[in-house]
Amino acid sequence: MYRIIFDTDPGHDDILSIMTALAHNSELEPLSFVTVAGNQTLDKVTKNILKVEDYLEINIPVYKGLNRPLVKEPQPQPAAHGESGMDGPILPEPQRKVEELSGVDYYRKVLSGNEKVTIVALAPLTNLGYVLKEDPSLADNIEQIVLMGGALNGGNINKYAEFNIWHDPEAAKIVFDSGIKVVMAPLEVCYAGGILIKETVRFRHGGKASKLVNDLFDFYCRYAIDRGWDKTAVFDLIPVLYLLKPEVFVAEQGKVDVILDGEDTQGQTVFTKGEGNHIVLIDANREECMKIFFEAIDTLDKRLG
Ligand code: RIB
Ligand code: CA
Repeated sequence: MYRIIFDTDPGHDDILSIMTALAHNSELEPLSFVTVAGNQTLDKVTKNILKVEDYLEINIPVYKGLNRPLVKEPQPQPAAHGESGMDGPILPEPQRKVEELSGVDYYRKVLSGNEKVTIVALAPLTNLGYVLKEDPSLADNIEQIVLMGGALNGGNINKYAEFNIWHDPEAAKIVFDSGIKVVMAPLEVCYAGGILIKETVRFRHGGKASKLVNDLFDFYCRYAIDRGWDKTAVFDLIPVLYLLKPEVFVAEQGKVDVILDGEDTQGQTVFTKGEGNHIVLIDANREECMKIFFEAIDTLDKRLG
């Protein structure tokens, strides 16, 4: 059983990943959500996870993390996720509230405990970079960080960098240089394990969970459809799929370095195979990935009735 902290900026794909995890409560124990500025402002992404908790009838503690990167200015991405950060679903204002404790103080507290945790990082690494910079010993209680981020051959936010790393490269460098075991799911494996646009129609005829997925994809897939693609990546899904079934991925070991400067290279992740405690996922069995995802949503449909 993995005791998981989700570090997240919901975010359509963040929610789809979290839903998949929620369907597997015998393998994954979500301890908390810690939000961070990324896809949209901190307030907007925090409201999104609270809305989804109401809708899915779950009560996992939500902690507000940091509202801006360690050095750069926040750079929300309305083109990919809309003004709300989760355009598409129409959900009421949240009833659930965030915890009093800040996300940073929560990390200081839980990482000073005596039980190790797995962090599933689906967003810029600002929160982790901040707490590890302040107290590197907090790394001792992190079993591993399984993250969506990075790119091996070309970026989605500049020529070489992927958004989560680019948004806060200084924080990402702290995390990758911390000595913690990191499993990285770069852009390439997310596309390899992506969903066919035609597969998304299955969610039009399901239950309550399927309706949320359908409404998320209705907005999220426009980006791919507008570009004539027949497939899209559900980026943040991959770290959860890896925890559930690592054998559906091809992985390589080595060391990842984060580049901090250069217009085209800021946020670039340079992977050197060989020595190191970084695992980089380089390929995926797409059908197997989708089987896990589809079955998870079916499970939530049955659970929600
Ligand atoms: O580059 C994709 C990543 O950026 C995903 O985590 C998405 O949610 C955004 O945060
Ligand atoms: Ca995300």
